[in-house]
Amino acid sequence: MAKVAEKEKVQMVDIFIMDKHYQVPEGLTIQAALEYCGYNLIRSVGCRSGFCGACATIYCFKNDPQLRYALACQKAVEPDMYLTQIPFFPTAEALYNVEDLEPKEGENKLVELYPIILTCFGCNNCTKSCPQDLEVMEFMSAAIRGDYEKVYEKSFDCLMCGLCAARCPQGLQPYVMAMAGRRLRGAYLAPKSQHNLDRVKEIEEGRFDAEMEKLKQMPTDELREL
Ligand code: SF4
Ligand code: SF4
Ligand code: FES
Repeated sequence: MAKVAEKEKVQMVDIFIMDKHYQVPEGLTIQAALEYCGYNLIRSVGCRSGFCGACATIYCFKNDPQLRYALACQKAVEPDMYLTQIPFFPTAEALYNVEDLEPKEGENKLVELYPIILTCFGCNNCTKSCPQDLEVMEFMSAAIRGDYEKVYEKSFDCLMCGLCAARCPQGLQPYVMAMAGRRLRGAYLAPKSQHNLDRVKEIEEGRFDAEMEKLKQMPTDELREL
């Protein structure tokens, strides 16, 4: 009886999916609300936990056409929310081998890889659309200055969701450039991790081969138990 009473207390929220009216329980994420309404999500869904960036979405409200940006697996539905599908954001990533890109005095490898970043004029639209609250425009400026450390710091939590590109009037993709910046920083500026290098050497020398072989031969049940 208590359970029924509890259930009765669930508040329903009016939302609109592609202009069709639905009522969904309060507190559902946009992603869960779509599924509650019968949509079978086989694209734009990944980790469901705010890490992979696959579920970037936009929404607005009845009588308020301003577009908002969010991760569908994180943002809870709100009354009179209008939802729809959006396309993917294709990435235009430069092809490079980070080992050939050692930065030298006076060189900016990020501008060499992505000369288009010089067209950024600091409008800050990208920052306003980032569901991770990253200072996107700031790491763009750092990239233009060749400050890889700052690009790494400011873009570390980027999920590659693509929403910043969706709002950039210059058609820039801050996330692909930032990925290159983090790689350069990792390869040339970060302190070497000696224990990691030692472990790679041990693996290359075959120190774990016997154990790996044993695991590979192990029946599934035993492996699970282990
Ligand atoms: S920087 Fe761009 S791609 Fe990265 S999380 Fe923010 S909006 Fe998404
Ligand atoms: S939206 Fe584009 S042009 Fe505007 S600050 Fe961001 S990267 Fe630069
Ligand atoms: S599904 Fe991975 S961030 Fe939303």
